[in-house]
Amino acid sequence: MSRQLAERIQGISPFYVMELLWRARQLEAQGKDVIHMEIGEPDFATPETIIDAAVKHILTGEVKYTPAAGLPALREKIARFYKQRYGVSIAKERIFVTPGASGAFLLALGVSLNSGEELLMADPCYPCNSNFVKFFDANCKTIPVDASSGYQLTAECIKQHWTPATKGALIASPSNPTGTLITPEALQRAILTVNALGGCFYSDEIYHGLVYGQNAATALEFSDNVFVINSFSKYFGMTGWRIGWLIVPEEFMVATEKLGQNIFIATSTHSQFAALAAFDEDTMVELERRRLEFAARRDFLYDNLLRLGFEIPVKPEGAFYIYANCARFTDDSFKFALDLLEAEAVAITPGKDFGSHEAHHMIRFAYTTSIARMTVAIQRLERFIKKGNNDF
Ligand SMILES: Cc1ncc(COP(=O)(O)O)c(C=O)c1O
Repeated sequence: MSRQLAERIQGISPFYVMELLWRARQLEAQGKDVIHMEIGEPDFATPETIIDAAVKHILTGEVKYTPAAGLPALREKIARFYKQRYGVSIAKERIFVTPGASGAFLLALGVSLNSGEELLMADPCYPCNSNFVKFFDANCKTIPVDASSGYQLTAECIKQHWTPATKGALIASPSNPTGTLITPEALQRAILTVNALGGCFYSDEIYHGLVYGQNAATALEFSDNVFVINSFSKYFGMTGWRIGWLIVPEEFMVATEKLGQNIFIATSTHSQFAALAAFDEDTMVELERRRLEFAARRDFLYDNLLRLGFEIPVKPEGAFYIYANCARFTDDSFKFALDLLEAEAVAITPGKDFGSHEAHHMIRFAYTTSIARMTVAIQRLERFIKKGNNDF
């Protein structure tokens, strides 16, 4: 019997930042105070209201499977949330509770993408999404994007890159790693273009709620014929609970339920009961306080990176990332990140984790740590740059 790895695994790239994280852990074990600005999750704890709801349910002892699509009460609350926040009416039958946005994406692609087909995505983008496409033996066609479109795909570039093998396009707004948003008009044009070409549109809205300027529009404002991927991970502070949701076009409802039953059975029960409290007023008050804190951090980091000589062509308006050009200091952002960690114990993510377009000049800074910690990080970064540790 062959013990060879499946071919599809060859195409799936590891995270380069893991190398940094591994080194950071070693340095910490030696007593170094590492400042983590590479981590893509909020440093805030899960809101107490959410934890209380989970604990209350666990204590009943009834931690059994739920329906594959999720607790009916949770699907209803998510539907209500769309009405309140975006003014769109979504039948709760189109909403599927999933193990994170990752589970949502797996279901969305599982019901819609055939092997050999291709999906259009921006370069840079969140790497797992493109790896999911490869996992389905399909191809990811990444399109280089820049500041002129806010690092987002446009209707024009979708049209230009569309081939008979193209199944659809994915847009993530706010984007990871750039923190930039697509405008509602551009989103609408992109959706209408994909619909007119007969394809599927996937909208990754996991950073909705974490916006600091314009509000993010949901793809559902413009069409019912879209897959919307969202999560309790980021805005609701529930990364480790592994819970998100997927909204599908009506004709995919039956297939999505069938696939969900087979590959997950259901999303974790205590996480679903926890999430029932996520839309409560007390929780929302706390989430708004956190959003304002993130906005202040964004401003602090943005101003300081510019002052140090990084280039940030579009001011990010969402998520908790700044994607900065470090060409002034290096032609190898991965080495820059490794050297910075070694010399000053500040961890950041190199551009090559997000694609290849200009990646060697780009660094992602996550402001998932306090302004006090970032103040120290900026002092260290300044010293590192001034010392010229990086051949510049
Ligand atoms: C753009 C984007 N989509 C999806 C995910 C996956 O999130 P989840 O924790 O909900 O699976 C992430 C996580 O960082 C992300 O940045």
